[in-house]
Amino acid sequence: MRIDVPDTAAMEAFGRQLGGTLRAGDLVVLTGPLGAGKTTLTRGVGEGLGVRGPVQSPTFVLARTHPSVVGGPPLVHVDAYRLDSAELLDDLDIDFAHAVVGVEWGAGLLDDVAESWIDVVIERDEGTGTSRLPAAADAEFLGADEPRRLEVRGHGPRWAGSAFAAAQ
Ligand SMILES: Nc1ncnc2c1ncn2[C@@H]1O[C@H](COP(=O)(O)OP(=O)(O)O)[C@@H](O)[C@H]1O
Ligand SMILES: [Mg+2]
Repeated sequence: MRIDVPDTAAMEAFGRQLGGTLRAGDLVVLTGPLGAGKTTLTRGVGEGLGVRGPVQSPTFVLARTHPSVVGGPPLVHVDAYRLDSAELLDDLDIDFAHAVVGVEWGAGLLDDVAESWIDVVIERDEGTGTSRLPAAADAEFLGADEPRRLEVRGHGPRWAGSAFAAAQ
């Protein structure tokens, strides 16, 4: 499923909508370059689930658990940027069965963990040229709204037949 996301608010709104459909045991793998909107989407997922915020970029921690404020599952938010192996991810001892888990930079690290998961690939519009700006200007630009495109694919039995089901 492809989705156009015009701005930050729309990314959060999509996350909220997705979060509203998730339950314990669900896994979302977020892929996209730095500043793509992975954390922004995860913040929306947290809102949709009703967990305690703030969901923000985990700078020093690799995983942060956000407990539910509505009696639902917690959100475990993982930034796997510095994790280069499935073994290191395994060391985090995440309780996948009882949480909703969102993993930034997790593509390829979770193949043995779950039989079902959702892949979200976020693309920035290359045409805007922000990636070609010098670093300082780029930082200024990061907050500015610009369109993103999402490719959302649900894999495995959990998502078979759903709107997110991956095309075979
Ligand atoms: N369409 C959009 N979707 C998501 N974020 C956007 C969008 N347009 C601009 N932004 C901005 O881009 C930045 C994305 O940051 P973040 O979510 O932390 O990215 P990542 O976690 O992928 O590195 C935020 O400052 C956000 O406000
Ligand atoms: Mg992030």
